[in-house]
Formats: sequence, C-alpha cells, structure tokens
Amino acid sequence: MNTSVEASIHAPVQDMYREHFSSECILVFAPGRINLIGEHTDYNEGFVLPAAIHQGLYFAVGKSEEADCQIVSRDKGEQVRFSPGQPLAAGTPSWANYFIGVSTLLRRRGHPIPAFNCVFGGDLPAGAGLSSSAALSAGFGLALNELLGLGISRLELAKIAQETEHEFAGVNCGIMDPFAILHGKAGHAIRLDCRSLEFEYIPFQTEAYKLLLCDTRIKHELASTEYNSRRKEVEAGIKRLQIHSPSLHSMRDVNKAMLQEEREGFHPSIYKRCLFVLEENDRVDATCAALKAGDFARMGELLYLSHEGLQFDYEVSCRELDFLVSQARKDSHIAGARMMGGGFGGATINLVATDAVGLVSDKMKEAYSQAFGFEPEIFEVQIGEGARVI
Ligand code: GLA
Repeated sequence: MNTSVEASIHAPVQDMYREHFSSECILVFAPGRINLIGEHTDYNEGFVLPAAIHQGLYFAVGKSEEADCQIVSRDKGEQVRFSPGQPLAAGTPSWANYFIGVSTLLRRRGHPIPAFNCVFGGDLPAGAGLSSSAALSAGFGLALNELLGLGISRLELAKIAQETEHEFAGVNCGIMDPFAILHGKAGHAIRLDCRSLEFEYIPFQTEAYKLLLCDTRIKHELASTEYNSRRKEVEAGIKRLQIHSPSLHSMRDVNKAMLQEEREGFHPSIYKRCLFVLEENDRVDATCAALKAGDFARMGELLYLSHEGLQFDYEVSCRELDFLVSQARKDSHIAGARMMGGGFGGATINLVATDAVGLVSDKMKEAYSQAFGFEPEIFEVQIGEGARVI
C-alpha cells in the first residue's frame, strides 16, 4: 500500500491510544484475506488458495498500569473494560470476545499475560467475507506476541486464532483465514495443504486482470449454523465410508471412484457435499497450474465451476450471490466469478479485464440495484503482505 495512505489510517489509531492511555504502544497491522478458490475445503483437510490484501486492521497495544484491560474500537466508537480471566458482562460488544479469546488461549498455553490496553481500527469492511474476525484475532495475537516477546510461531498464532473462533464465537471454522492473514506475501496466493499445513506461494501477477469484489451487503442469519451443519454433513459422509474403509480419516483419503462405489448407501445431499469437496480440491490444483501458465481464461472457468458446486452441491450460496455471478457470466470482460468465503451473503470475487473495471462495476451496480433495491459495494483488491509490526 502507498505509505501515505497507510499512515492516514494507522496514525489516528496510534494517536488515539496515546491520548487515551498516555503511554507508549506498539503498532501491528493485520490484513483481510481473499480466497481465489478452495472453498469449504480447509476443515475437510483439503487445499485452499487464499491471499492477504491491502485493507486491514491496525492495533495499537501496550501494557496497562491498572488491573483491568481496556479495548477501544476506533471505528465503532465503543470501549470495553474487563478483568483478565473474568467472564464478560452481558451486553458487551461481540468483538470483545476475540480479545478475551486470544488472551485466554495464550494463558492456557502457559504464557503469563498481564493486563493490556488496545485501540484498533482500519479500513476492512466487516461482513464482506474478508475475514475481519480472523484479522482481529490473528492481529491481536501477533501484537501480544511482539509486545511481550512470547516467541510464538505464526503457525501457532493462526491455530490460536482458529481456536478463538471455535470457542469464543461458536463457529467451527478451518485454519485458512488466520493462516493467510499471517503468511500473506505481496503478489502471491498461498496454496495451503490444510492437512499437513505445508504451503507454497503461487504468483498472481498480471497486468491484464484485476480482482474485483462485489459485496452483496447481505448476511443471512443462517450463515454460522449452516456452516457448522455442512461440517457435520461431510463428517456423516466419512462415517458412512468408514464402514468399508475403516482407516480413512477425512475427505483427503477419498477419491471419486470410492465415493461413486458407495453412492447407494448415501443420502443424496450428503453425497453432493462430499463430491463437492473432492472436486473443489482438484480445482485448487487446476487453478495453480493455470496461474503458473498465465492462463487467466482457464482460471476464470474454474471460478465459475467452483460457484456452481457451491450453489448446487454444497448449497451455501444465496440468491444475491447467484445473481451477481449470473450477471458476471453475461459480461465478456469478466473471465470468471464465484461466491467467496463461508457463503449465505458476503461478496463474490471476479476476475475482470483491467481496462473494463469501471464499466463492469457500473453495470453490476445498476443490475443489482434494479433487482434488490440497493447498491452492492464494489471494490478492487490487491494482494499484499501478511500481518506485521509497523
Ligand atoms: C469461512 C471460514 C474458513 C473457510 C471458509 C469457507 O471463511 O472461516 O475457515 O472454511 O469459510 O471456505
């Protein structure tokens, strides 16, 4: 990011900290993430292809002289005070759970965590599927790690962020989001094997295409319950397969022929969920090959296929997302598009010809407003570096 743009965002966070607490602090940036392809595969021990972006959250963090911790959300104008180790008072804003979660999990791992203060804020839209909650927990974890010299690896910080989401937000998510936020590299996507946690940087470098996000500005209520239930459905599929193959552990141990052979014993929707995971894993590798070959037309086809699978087989899309993707299909300037993230709202990711970005975005806004009565949020994203101390 242009350093003056960056400074215009983080300087107020740091200034606010100094005004509030009259003491010194460190400053950490945690980006949001996109996912090029590989959706709902992370918790199935599969492959994903995410990347960190330029937009993100800044954290000014310092030790507190008092017994309590205080956290200020600059953007929401909210402030939370709590005693370490004590449950939160009723009515506390839900973002506070991420701070409590990370500090509790660090303590549980044996790290002494004194009382701290924090001011945070940034330019990462919440609810657009850019993983603002993982940016909160990964960024705050990195900040405490630096402030207190804890020496925790980035992989461990990603695991702590994931556990925070499980235990303190009730979503059984995979590791993709915090991993990408903590390991991002400018101009590269990360092909992550969510079983071994080995990863490879895949260059995303092209002058011809831009990544455009179209945010539906919708988040359907059922998002987190359906997310958890998809997880259970695939687990039910594994249990079914284990009857004849007791040694298999996850969808990574399954191939299409094995699934096909057992089809009779499956409930049709469980079969579709499992099939999607296998096909989506294959699409991650096909996308990596396309990127390495500079074949963006092929990458675009794979994005559309991924959306089709998410819409009809995994069934995590919604009519607003489907509308945006069907509009994209009609536009020859868009090589491919799909819903991104957990689904049931949030944004689509679109691979758009560079010289048509303005046109595409105007057309998309108009069509969406006509269909739903309000405009989507449309913005370009660039692949940036992962979380870091500023
Ligand atoms: C959410 C979760 C991720 C991942 C995606 C779907 O973003 O946090 O772990 O499962 O949904 O790919």
